[in-house]
Amino acid sequence: MKSPLSSSSSPASSSSSSLRKTRLPPYLFALLSFIVFVSILYGEDLVCIFGQQLQVRPSSTRPGPRTGELTRLPVSSSDVRKYKLRNADTRPADGTIIYEKVINGVLGSLDQRKSSTSSDPVPFAIGRGEEGCDVFSGRWVRDESTRPSYEESECPYIQPQLTCQEHGRPDKDYQHRRWQPHSCSLPRFNATLMLEALRGKRMMYVGDSLNRGQYVSMICLLHSLIPEGSKSMETFDSLTVFTAKDYNATIEFYWAPFLLESNSDNAVIHRVTDRFVRKGSINKHGKHWKGVDILVFNTYLWWMSGVTVKILKGSFEDEVKDVVVKSTDDAYRMAMKSLVRWVQKNMDPKKTRVFFTSMSPTHGNSEEWGGEPGGNCYNQTTPIEDPKYWGSDSRKSIMQVISEVFSKSKVPITFLNITQLSNYRKDAHTMIYKKQWSVLTPKQLANPVSYADCVHWCLPGLQDTWNELLFAKLFYP
Ligand SMILES: *[C@@H]1O[C@H](CO)[C@@H](O)[C@H](O)[C@H]1NC(C)=O
Ligand SMILES: *[C@@H]1O[C@H](CO)[C@@H](O)[C@H](O)[C@H]1NC(C)=O
Ligand SMILES: *[C@@H]1O[C@H](CO)[C@@H](O)[C@H](O)[C@H]1NC(C)=O
Ligand SMILES: *[C@@H]1O[C@H](CO)[C@@H](O)[C@H](O)[C@H]1NC(C)=O
Repeated sequence: MKSPLSSSSSPASSSSSSLRKTRLPPYLFALLSFIVFVSILYGEDLVCIFGQQLQVRPSSTRPGPRTGELTRLPVSSSDVRKYKLRNADTRPADGTIIYEKVINGVLGSLDQRKSSTSSDPVPFAIGRGEEGCDVFSGRWVRDESTRPSYEESECPYIQPQLTCQEHGRPDKDYQHRRWQPHSCSLPRFNATLMLEALRGKRMMYVGDSLNRGQYVSMICLLHSLIPEGSKSMETFDSLTVFTAKDYNATIEFYWAPFLLESNSDNAVIHRVTDRFVRKGSINKHGKHWKGVDILVFNTYLWWMSGVTVKILKGSFEDEVKDVVVKSTDDAYRMAMKSLVRWVQKNMDPKKTRVFFTSMSPTHGNSEEWGGEPGGNCYNQTTPIEDPKYWGSDSRKSIMQVISEVFSKSKVPITFLNITQLSNYRKDAHTMIYKKQWSVLTPKQLANPVSYADCVHWCLPGLQDTWNELLFAKLFYP
């Protein structure tokens, strides 16, 4: 299968035009039409058909983001402009999202409870966070003097999926916003301190393309301290490794969108119509995370392609596959339990730290924040002001699953609760200002809303704040 991943998440009504574009033989076209039909029926999105990602949205279609993903080939530091097409994320077909009953109050301050019950010194800590301050509760303030933390053009590691200025984004306000917690201040990100802490150590982000964005942000925040020639970035299948040679430190990214083994794991071709996640398979990927000193996990959007997830009980090689269908919440709970068990077995709480980043919100429907009907994140230049705003794509029930499972963990997992603060940032997505993987049709060009990516985030931008929060929790837990 040849890429590029055009990954057009166009409404059902226009998916047939995407099909035509691929000039398929009639029988394939008929087959695809059937799959599209079945998918509409079952409300699932349809991906990876002959290099075309199609997303099928049930009846009340609204334009959504496009996603596509790439990574660098192993290249020398002087030749950073070569890329290899790689993973692509997808997002749920909007109509399939269940509006969960919101269970308030149960989502507590997981993290604080963890740190207050342990009397042992926390690895990497050099101080304590302000008593009673929830750094995740706050507001966005304009800050022209200290933000952005780096310039887009000065960080060669940003994948062209996230370089918004290079791809013509006209405004820059999204770069000049600083997160201000309500009852304290965030410690200023100190790149020297971070690099010193990583001396002789490995830090690894594990998850999907959103986690890769946070990973790249961390490298951008640090790399200017490292002289040219003492740093490199290489990709080996699912693993990308940034090396700071003089520090004997690596910052790595490992692609595992479900954390467990799935048929979306191939770093290059992972789009399939039928997604399976294999039960009890965390060691498949987990063996590559062993010995890491700081682990940062995420997993969310890939679970959200429908209301259920197919769980494979045997092996992917089995001729007759033993598959059970679980509700998304139950499937996700299963994965979280596997993760906690893996962490308990493999991480030493006296020496290492584990973080988990909560779900990254999407902004695919402007009506949710009182905008004009038919819009999405496209053309949004200011954050949402309503402090209570919570997009329907961020399922509170999943938040609750995370809380429940992590609260039983014997090894502390620091929860980076970025969902609420990111929910305000309808202005921070890459929109149409990114490398496009296929030639856009005149119809698309005439309607930028139809191909805006409202999943991923421009760099510099929002994800630098996620790392500032990580920094705060790492050194001042
Ligand atoms: C995450 O942060 C938001 C905003 O401060 C808060 O309302 C929510 O309870 C937090 N969730 C958890 C699980 O800590
Ligand atoms: C940053 O950290 C380094 C190393 O710990 C320290 O020497 C320096 O004073 C810090 N800088 C600021 C601005 O706090
Ligand atoms: C470099 O770091 C690794 C851990 O990432 C460690 O095992 C090794 O001993 C270090 N080497 C030196 C020379 O410090
Ligand atoms: C974008 O925003 C500007 C002003 O905020 C408005 O005039 C224009 O019509 C918007 N374009 C689209 C396609 O929504």
